[in-house]
Amino acid sequence: MDLEAKKSALRSMPHGIYVVTLRRGEERCAFTATWVTQTSFEPPLLAMAVRSDSYARSFCQPGTALALHWLDKQQKSFAQTFFKPPTVEGQSFGPYSFQDGVHGAPILDGVLAHVEGIVRTVVEVGDHHPVLFEVVDAKIHRLGDALVLADTGWKYGG
Ligand SMILES: Cc1cc2nc3c(=O)[nH]c(=O)nc-3n(C[C@H](O)[C@H](O)[C@H](O)COP(=O)(O)O)c2cc1C
Repeated sequence: MDLEAKKSALRSMPHGIYVVTLRRGEERCAFTATWVTQTSFEPPLLAMAVRSDSYARSFCQPGTALALHWLDKQQKSFAQTFFKPPTVEGQSFGPYSFQDGVHGAPILDGVLAHVEGIVRTVVEVGDHHPVLFEVVDAKIHRLGDALVLADTGWKYGG
């Protein structure tokens, strides 16, 4: 295989930008992800790949509540904030406030939309682990064009 071609092809693959929040008891964490997709209509399942050695990965156990948020095209700095683990104070990640979702996951204010989910399975293969979760709640907060990886100039993949 031509490794440069593989890298270029995978880096040009279309992806979204999402802020993922997770809750374990009274602990909460959040990070920005791009490797996310739908995998089933019934039950409604999504998959995201979570770096195997990250703090967020330690939250991803069957039964964990999480939320996936998408942002509008003006919210690049919002997404950027969650490349580093934010400080959690009360109901805020740094400057970004949240409410508790119906299953307890942190639901960020100011986003375009979110889905709340429950982790069903984690596949322990590779340097990112596919985490399969079932959508248990969803809300469109406002209309707008979603920020996607191609808007940002950031690279993740290859
Ligand atoms: C453009 C971009 C996309 C990213 N996508 C993912 C992703 O899909 N999955 C993931 O686990 N980390 C992803 N990351 C890394 C996380 O945002 C974050 O840096 C990482 O979870 C921090 O983990 P740590 O503080 O525990 O080391 C991405 C980073 C960038 C810059």
